[in-house]
Amino acid sequence: MPSTSVLAASACLLVAFFVWFRKPKASSASLPPGPKPVPILGNVFDLTAKELWLPASEWAKQYGDVVYLHLLGVGLVFLNSPDAAFDLLDKRGSIYSDKPALVMAGELCGCKNMVAFTSYGEQSKRQRKLLHKAFGVSTIPSYHPLLQTETHSFLRRLIVDPAEYIKHIRRYAGGLTLSVVYGYEAVSNDDEFLDLAEECVGLLSNRIASGGGIWPVDIFPSLRHIPLWMPGSGFKKNAMAWKKKMEEFVDRPYEFVKNSIKMGSYKASFCSNLLEDASVQDADSFEFDLKWSANSMYSGSIDTTITTVSHFLLAMMLYPEAQKRAQQELDAVVGSDRLPTIADRSSLPFVECIFMESLRWGVPVPLNLPHRLMEDDIYKGMHIPKGSMVFGNIWAMLRNEKVYPDPHNFRPERYFEPVTREMERKRNPKNYVFGFGRRQCPGMNLVDSSVWLLIASSLATLDISKAVDEHGKVIEPVIEFDNPIFRIPNQFKCDMRPRSPKALSLIKQSEIPVI
Ligand code: HEM
Repeated sequence: MPSTSVLAASACLLVAFFVWFRKPKASSASLPPGPKPVPILGNVFDLTAKELWLPASEWAKQYGDVVYLHLLGVGLVFLNSPDAAFDLLDKRGSIYSDKPALVMAGELCGCKNMVAFTSYGEQSKRQRKLLHKAFGVSTIPSYHPLLQTETHSFLRRLIVDPAEYIKHIRRYAGGLTLSVVYGYEAVSNDDEFLDLAEECVGLLSNRIASGGGIWPVDIFPSLRHIPLWMPGSGFKKNAMAWKKKMEEFVDRPYEFVKNSIKMGSYKASFCSNLLEDASVQDADSFEFDLKWSANSMYSGSIDTTITTVSHFLLAMMLYPEAQKRAQQELDAVVGSDRLPTIADRSSLPFVECIFMESLRWGVPVPLNLPHRLMEDDIYKGMHIPKGSMVFGNIWAMLRNEKVYPDPHNFRPERYFEPVTREMERKRNPKNYVFGFGRRQCPGMNLVDSSVWLLIASSLATLDISKAVDEHGKVIEPVIEFDNPIFRIPNQFKCDMRPRSPKALSLIKQSEIPVI
């Protein structure tokens, strides 16, 4: 066995080599400003595992639109204004659209083919083309009946057991994605595909991507060769088990669609439409691209939907006057004899404001997903080194008080305040919450309809308020955010009940399928 001092010396050498190897190239332009790093380790003591967007936004105030830190020589760049984010992630998208190559998540756990992890190149372009076919603006109306069915099922489950609202949102997002993507109808809460999908999404966000998804093997890639018998190889054993599960998650629902088509009994879906579309099938990689893109949609939709809908419920509980105003609008436009549909949308401007404000106030992915810069770049005289991980600080953009006065409060009426056309575009949170450039969320058009309908239907039928304890005392929600990537509020106590006997019977009657 090597002695501890030999091990320590080797570790130091490894760190020194790593830092030297990854050192940014010298450039006449200086790096963007940022908090002072310590030697070798960089800004390791400035980074937090929880709510990193809060210190990041303090740095924005201190250092400006572009802030630079480094971790062991790898640049971390925070873009704190829409201008900086659009200038770089969008306009210079040809070099800002790569993804960090994560050894643990990508290679060892097999996630590198999921769209959000795929490096920028032919494969990511082909996959995004398929996603665009499925979720382009013009395709969304074909999903409307499905959105209605899933929204009504959500309401029915919610009124039976409101305390478990997160479970119902997860079930809603999962069921919706399974039917849109695979034409698969989950019939019960313990459906085999839902269970598999939930297990895998849980693995992805709570295990594989825990701590921001960076593992020691991502920093020292040679650790991937550590033999399984050696102490410290536990991550490899885990990775092997997780990879097997992820592959099952990719293959099984896909096989389901293929078999259903073979049997001649299937529902139209993303997969079946593309499997029947000869024009997209010529590439050798077609089947591979299709099954990984399909799977990526499931993974992309769960935590984001939970975050957005949880914030909507929280806001309705904390801002009852906004809830009342939206309900009055719904009563006047839709009445109490039916549930709202997407066709009502243009007549419900205040409900639209509630939807927009839920996205802004909730900021579901506050630092976006990191993009990797593929070449050295100069921006406004600052040198941004190749290999930097670039974060769009959506949190800072959506808490900018010049654009959103009183930014920490939920104020849907802010979108009614008259402003110039330019400002109207600037203050629309939908321009930021889905990310930027060539990696922008491919599910955004679907969300625009699905979450709107869920919000409108909930407001039309439910009263949402703070819970009271057994002594009749109001329970103030205590909200914390533990997830490093998504701003998911921990489960809070909340009272949700049908607004009236009529609302209750509408929810119950909604079981009758919509044609
Ligand atoms: C409120 C709901 C949602 C929000 C706020 C949201 C937000 C985001 C954000 C910020 C990104 C990163 C964009 C970037 O890197 O610049 C992203 C990526 C992605 N989203 Fe969404 N998303 C939502 C729902 C969905 C849904 C419903 C789906 C699928 C049906 C989906 C699929 C994806 C995929 C596949 C990616 C990776 C794209 C890539 O790297 O090329 N998302 N989303």
